[in-house]
Amino acid sequence: MCGIVGYTGHREAYPIIIKGLKRLEYRGYDSTGVALNNGSGLNVYKKKGKVAELEEAVIGKDLHAHIGIGHTRWATHGEPSDRNAHPHQSASGKLAMIHNGIIENYTQLKKELISKGYYFESDTDTEVLLNFIEEIRKNNQCDLEEAVRIALKRVTGAYVILLIDEDDPATIIAARKGSPLVIGIGKGEHFLGSDASPMLEYTKEVVYVNDYELAIVKPDELILKNLGNEKLTPYVQKLDLELAAIEKGGYEHFMLKEIVEQPQTIYDCLRGRLDPIEGTITMSGIQQYAEQIMNANRIVIVACGTSWHAGLVAEYIFEELCRINVEVEYASEFRYRNPVINKGDVILAISQSGETADTLVAIENAKSKGAILLGVVNVVGSSIARTSHAGAYTHAGPEIGVASTKAFTAQLAVLTMIALKIGYLKGSIPQERYMNLLNELQQVPEKVAWILKHSAPIKAMAEKYKDARDFLYLGRGYNFPVALEGALKLKEISYIHAEGYPAAEMKHGPIALVDDQLPVVFVATRDAYHEKVMSNMQEIKARKGKLIAVITEGDTATAELCDDYIEVPEADEIVAPMLSVVPLQLLAYYIGVAKELDVDKPRNLAKSVTVE
Ligand code: AGP
Ligand code: GLU
Repeated sequence: MCGIVGYTGHREAYPIIIKGLKRLEYRGYDSTGVALNNGSGLNVYKKKGKVAELEEAVIGKDLHAHIGIGHTRWATHGEPSDRNAHPHQSASGKLAMIHNGIIENYTQLKKELISKGYYFESDTDTEVLLNFIEEIRKNNQCDLEEAVRIALKRVTGAYVILLIDEDDPATIIAARKGSPLVIGIGKGEHFLGSDASPMLEYTKEVVYVNDYELAIVKPDELILKNLGNEKLTPYVQKLDLELAAIEKGGYEHFMLKEIVEQPQTIYDCLRGRLDPIEGTITMSGIQQYAEQIMNANRIVIVACGTSWHAGLVAEYIFEELCRINVEVEYASEFRYRNPVINKGDVILAISQSGETADTLVAIENAKSKGAILLGVVNVVGSSIARTSHAGAYTHAGPEIGVASTKAFTAQLAVLTMIALKIGYLKGSIPQERYMNLLNELQQVPEKVAWILKHSAPIKAMAEKYKDARDFLYLGRGYNFPVALEGALKLKEISYIHAEGYPAAEMKHGPIALVDDQLPVVFVATRDAYHEKVMSNMQEIKARKGKLIAVITEGDTATAELCDDYIEVPEADEIVAPMLSVVPLQLLAYYIGVAKELDVDKPRNLAKSVTVE
C-alpha cells in the first residue's frame, strides 16, 4: 500500500525522489508530495492526484536540495486532498514527515495535543504523530532521534516514517513497524524506499530495516538502532533484481499480488478492532449508530457484483448472530423500484471503490426517505463513504486488478465484526459462541496463508480444465455466495461461461447441463449442510460431471468423491467463506493466465463503474 522515497547525498534529491515515486505507482495511491531541505529551509509541495500532476504543479518552484523525502498516499484517515497529502509539517514548521500505515491510538494522542494548544491542518493520524514527536522533543529537551524513539514506544499501529529537520540538512530519521522500508547504500549517499525499485540504478547494496528499528541516515553514515537505543549492525544484502522484475512487487499480475496479499489485508482490517483476549470489538465508525442498528426492523444491503456477494454472506451472518431481518438487493434494481423504506430501516451499502453509480444513487434515494445509511467501503473519502451516516473502512489497500479479490475478504471481515458487535450488544449471541468467533476471526489470516502455501495443485487444475465451455459452481448456506463469487471470478477473467447456484436448487434445472464435459465446482467444506452437499455431489457424479471441490483439510470421504480437490483449514462456518473463496480466486486466475488473457484488465470491464 502506498509508497515512500528518501534521499540524502551529493546529487539533486528531487529528480531521484520523483522517479522513485513513479516506480512505486504500482502500489496504488491517491495523492503525492515531497519535502526538500536546501539548507535555508524546508520546501514542501503536495498534490491530490498523480505524480505527474505534482510535477506540473511545481514547475518554476525552488526544487534545489540534496536531501528530501517523497510520498504517495493511500488515504486511511481523512479524504484524499492536497491538505491531507504528505509530507506533513509540524506545528513549528521545522519538521517534515511522511508515513505509510495507520496510527491506531491517534485519537487519544490528538486529544492530549489539543489540550496542550496544538491545532491540526489535516485530518490525518500522521500529523498527530508528527506533532507528538515535536512536543516530546520540546518537553524533554532531547534530540529528534530520542524524541522519535520515545514517541514510537507510545504508538500502536503500523508505520514506516521518514522525518527531516529544517536545522539538519543532512539527516533522515526513519523507523518502521509493519510497513516496509529498504535503505540503499551508495558512495556518499543513501536512498530510502518502500521497496528497492527507487534505488535500483544507483546501488545494489541494500539493508532491509526490521520492525521496531530506527535508522539515522546521513550521506556518509547509516546508523541502525532498536527502540532501546542499542546500536545494531546493518545486514547489507546484494540485490539480485532487475527493474523489470519489480513492477507489481515482483508478481506477474496485480490480481495475483492482491490474492497473495490477503493474509496481510485481512489482518490489517482486524487490527486495532478485534481483541479476542479482552473479548472486545471496537468499531468507532458505527458506535454512534449501534443502538439504532440493534433496534432496526430490518437491514437492507445494497451493492453490486462481488460486493453484493459479500452482502449475501452478511445476510446469513446478521440473521444468525443478530436476529435481524436482512434483505440483500442489487443496487441497480433497488434504485428504480420505489422500495418501501420506513424510518428506522438501516441501509447498508458495500463497495470497494465507493464510487459505483448504482449503489450511490440507491443509497441517496434511501437517505432522502429517512433511512440510516451505513457504508462498508475500501476507498477512503469516496462518494459512498461521504454519503453514509456511518460505517467502517475495509483497509484492504488499493485494489488495482479489475477482478475484486482482497476487497471481498476484507468486506467479509468487517461485516462479521459489525454483526458480532451488534449481536453482542443485543445479547443475541451466546457468550461462549461470541468468544469462540472472535478467536476464529483472529485465525483467518494465518489460515489464508496456509491455503496460499498449499495452492500449487490449482495451477495444474487450471491447465486441465481451461478448455471447458461452461462451469457450474455449487454451494449451500454460507458457501452459496462463495459459489456465486467463484463463478463471477471465472467469467470475468477467463470468459468461460460459469453459473453459481445453491447446491440443492441445481436439481430443479441446471442438472440438465451435466454431462462428462462439464466441470462442477463444489464449495464443500465441513459445515451444517455437509452431508446434504455430499448427496448433491453424488447426483453430479452419477451423471458423469467432472467434480472439483473445495474441502476441509483431511476430509478424505469428500476427497474420494472428486476428480480434483483443494483443501482449506477447518473453520467455523461463519468465517469459512473468507477461506473457501481463495482457491476459487486462484483457479480463475490460473485459467485466465493459461488462456493468455489480460487478467488485470478483462475486456469490457472497468474497475469503478461510475455509470448506470
Ligand atoms: C468484481 O470482480 C467486479 N469487477 C464487479 O462485480 C464489482 O464488484 C462491482 O462493480 C462493484 O464494485 P464496488 O465494490 O466498487 O462497488
Ligand atoms: N494513515 C496515513 C494517512 O491517512 C497514511 C496513509 C498511507 O499509508 O499512505 O494519511
